[in-house]
Amino acid sequence: MGKYKIAVIPGDGIGPEVTQEAVNVLKAIGEKFQHTFTFEYALAGGCAIDACGECLPEETLEICKHSNSVMLGAVGGPKWDNVPNAQRPEKALLGLRAELGLFSNLRPAKIYDALAEACPLKAEIVKGGLDILIVRELTGGIYFGERGYRQGKYGEEAYDVETYSEVEIKRILKNALEIAMQRDKKVCCVDKANVLETSRLWRKVAQEVKNDYPEVELTYMYVDNAAMQLVRNPKQFDVMVTSNMFGDILSDEASMITGSIGLLPSASLGEGTFGMYEPIHGSAPDIARENKANPIAAILSVAMMLKYSFHLTKEADAIEAAVKTVLEKGLRTPDIFSQGTTLLGTKEMGEAIQNCI
Ligand code: IPM
Ligand code: MG
Repeated sequence: MGKYKIAVIPGDGIGPEVTQEAVNVLKAIGEKFQHTFTFEYALAGGCAIDACGECLPEETLEICKHSNSVMLGAVGGPKWDNVPNAQRPEKALLGLRAELGLFSNLRPAKIYDALAEACPLKAEIVKGGLDILIVRELTGGIYFGERGYRQGKYGEEAYDVETYSEVEIKRILKNALEIAMQRDKKVCCVDKANVLETSRLWRKVAQEVKNDYPEVELTYMYVDNAAMQLVRNPKQFDVMVTSNMFGDILSDEASMITGSIGLLPSASLGEGTFGMYEPIHGSAPDIARENKANPIAAILSVAMMLKYSFHLTKEADAIEAAVKTVLEKGLRTPDIFSQGTTLLGTKEMGEAIQNCI
């Protein structure tokens, strides 16, 4: 019986709807397994800009720092497209990751048997299932590097710099290799070492870290090839570890292979057990408040929270099993609907999963 305090940041667009369903699932878990989850709500993203003029208020960071973990919905939307760069809603995400020291982002891409036909690849390519984990470096690289405008060869130019230190590379590689030990013991380091100096440093450090994990098979692949291999033969991958920007791009690609971006959760972790958990889909403003969003990614995100932050494996498994059950029953939100299945809204899908806990 544990007590856990969770900061909840619903955010913008479909964020609040899917987060609500994830919170309800946690409550159901609490009842069944006798844990006490308490929730403290905080603002970030566009709604925070509207309410207090900044995308990541100090109060939100304080609430997160005093919690055991954070559950986040999504941030951003067209309403805030024209606010200055430093205050865009997306900056709230980057700020949370940096301020909370969450350098390791785990993005699993798994195909559920019941949804095999939602996969846009030919059946023979994904036959037997797919289970990839992308480990994305989250607080370094070009998203956090020096940036600005200056005079260049052709007049004014903009620049964003990619920098990685050995320390940053080492800790994410360690993380990936550690996780691989619990899986199929295969890590593919994705980079652009034929062009980028930072990638060459990644390879050097990766090789050093690997020495501590003799059982893990470590391979390297250029990112352009990796993008191709993900659709050509995705089953060759177990764990993929990569930089912030490459991980951003490849995780969207991997998610689509599973059938819908509405299915994939993520965990952002630092040195300790504290983590931030969020669906990898964005705020989808076009379907916000229409009860159309798929809450499964958010719900699976709290399963990851139970597993990685609270070490409640049984409870996490119960959520994953509940998701599997509703999918096997043919229950679907619009993003994964197909002829012969039952169409549900966000709320109804959330309730169906809660009822299976
Ligand atoms: C993601 C998103 C964010 C990122 C954006 C919204 C800043 O695309 O979590 O993948 O690039 O990290
Ligand atoms: Mg992204």
